Amino acid sequence: MPDIRTIKTDFPLFRHHPDLVYFDSAATALKPQVVIDAEREYLEQYSANVGRGLYPLAETATEKFEAVREKVARFIGASKSTEIIFTGGTTASINLAALLLASQISEGDNIVTTTMEHHSNFLPWKELAKKCQAELRVLPITEEGALNMSALGRYVDARTRVVAFSAVSNVLGTINPVQEIIAAIKAITPDAIVLVDAAQAIGHMPLGVSLWDADLVAFSAHKMFGPTGVGILWGKAALLETLPPVAFGGGMVLDVYPPESSVGRACAAETTYKEIPYRFEAGTPNIGGVIGFGAALDYIGSIGIENIRAHEMALTEYAMKRLKETFGAAIAIVGPTEADKRGGIIAFSFAGIHPHDIAQLLGEKNICVRAGEHCAAPLHRRLGLAATTRISFSVYNSEEDIDTLIEALKKNTLLLNK
Ligand SMILES: Cc1ncc(COP(=O)(O)O)c(C=O)c1O
Repeated sequence: MPDIRTIKTDFPLFRHHPDLVYFDSAATALKPQVVIDAEREYLEQYSANVGRGLYPLAETATEKFEAVREKVARFIGASKSTEIIFTGGTTASINLAALLLASQISEGDNIVTTTMEHHSNFLPWKELAKKCQAELRVLPITEEGALNMSALGRYVDARTRVVAFSAVSNVLGTINPVQEIIAAIKAITPDAIVLVDAAQAIGHMPLGVSLWDADLVAFSAHKMFGPTGVGILWGKAALLETLPPVAFGGGMVLDVYPPESSVGRACAAETTYKEIPYRFEAGTPNIGGVIGFGAALDYIGSIGIENIRAHEMALTEYAMKRLKETFGAAIAIVGPTEADKRGGIIAFSFAGIHPHDIAQLLGEKNICVRAGEHCAAPLHRRLGLAATTRISFSVYNSEEDIDTLIEALKKNTLLLNK
């Protein structure tokens, strides 16, 4: 792992805000210069559309765009790059998945999600269940903030068509044993389609989607140093090939005919669609964003995913220790107690102090934290908390940042307790 001071020079935001302590990487990670440069190069030097033009600039754009698809496939351990669908983000990926799977769900079936999900992995399934007259089931969590695996058999059964859960909770920080969970689901019902929301996992720890044996995996580029507006829906080729497209337009068709009424039966035929993944990518994608994402993946590779995991875990351990020794019983940290069971995310609350007040006062000291329910209202209901304060780590954070936070929190909690 390179020295933190060197890493910080990779992120131009710190040039503009040298004293900034950025603890909101779970919302969006900062962007290194290499990502900004790659996106700018596309815009300045070869900003043609992809998959359409036959002139050299368009061919360059298409080659570079498609090279990122290959890179993503290698990065997540997918067996083929045709399994990578570019979307606008995790939310768009999961909504696309829900639309794609609508044809697989009938009245009386059920869809299982969990209490710890981000709204993005909850609402699309709730809406889909309503539309298909299926039942939405919500797997509970344990007191320790893990998925309640002993309850799985009561939630998943032969009528379960989809199970959707996150690899890492964006509030509890819990790392779910994805491979084990999928094996347990498939042991009950081998035909259930399992979607993993990997928004807080990919880019933070080594993993492989094929190893997991998931069917679909969703994540966002911007949470792993890439641009906003780019996401991935990975799907097993064998599944994607069975699914009809749900969004229609340019770039995804082989041939289109006007209706029979205007050309006569002999000339009319069904629309034919391109192969996967193109038939799920109607319209012009965020080309510059995807190119920038490629540079983000190279950047992660240059640091090393094992190094990133080790660094974030060490910071999590240090922060939990310092928070507990400084504030004792006054602070409640949600989620697992051991750092090796969590990603670099810690959400906490102080009795009698609203998290928004804490976040605002920290903000005035150049410390960026998140306060609220973090798009996880069902989880906060379960925890009996209206809101929490959340800190989350990345490669540019240090123990010194945590010390700065603790000092500021000491002053703020004193102030707010008066
Ligand atoms: C676990 C999880 N899922 C989904 C999302 C939604 O991601 P996006 O806003 O990039 O679509 C987030 C964002 O915080 C998240 O943490």
